[in-house]
Amino acid sequence: MQRSDLKTIVAVEQLSNPHPWSSGQFLSELDNSCSVIELLCLDDKIAAFLCSWLVVDELHIHNVATHPDYRRQGLALKLMTRRAELAKNSGAVVALLEVRAHNTGAIRLYERLGYRQNGRRRRYYADGEDAVLMECDLTA
Ligand SMILES: CC(C)(COP(=O)(O)OP(=O)(O)OC[C@H]1O[C@@H](n2cnc3c(N)ncnc32)[C@H](O)[C@@H]1OP(=O)(O)O)[C@@H](O)C(=O)NCCC(=O)NCCS
Repeated sequence: MQRSDLKTIVAVEQLSNPHPWSSGQFLSELDNSCSVIELLCLDDKIAAFLCSWLVVDELHIHNVATHPDYRRQGLALKLMTRRAELAKNSGAVVALLEVRAHNTGAIRLYERLGYRQNGRRRRYYADGEDAVLMECDLTA
């Protein structure tokens, strides 16, 4: 992601997340040396993005979204698989994330990638929804 992509990424985020990240949140990721925002473009348009941090040997997945017009075409799967491979090559041994408990589509995606549920944070989100914690062993 570059600063010039900001407007389009925020638009994809707003179409995807009922509690979307602001422009400022994306900009602060750009200023964070741990953070990488990768894009997948189709038809010259940004179709999906993935924001993750590599912290020593842990890959932290912070946000992933696919534009509604491009869903169920394997884009999120592709972005997350590639990110995990690159992180593994940089020494990551585990990938971690948290997801809203009702977000069954995302949970199915993560399970398909080998993530397992390993905890729950009660009423973690501001609206009172639980977070499901998930982990994927990158050495397996
Ligand atoms: C979750 C999300 C990123 C998935 O993106 P996507 O590009 O459509 O996902 P993929 O096409 O790579 O899906 C791969 C597999 O994951 C599972 N999957 C993905 N979305 C699913 C859904 N809505 N319901 C059930 N399973 C789903 C399926 O197994 C799918 O394979 P299949 O299509 O062959 O059945 C997308 O629906 C989205 O942007 N949602 C809103 C934002 C969000 O919830 N982000 C995650 C929390 S931060």
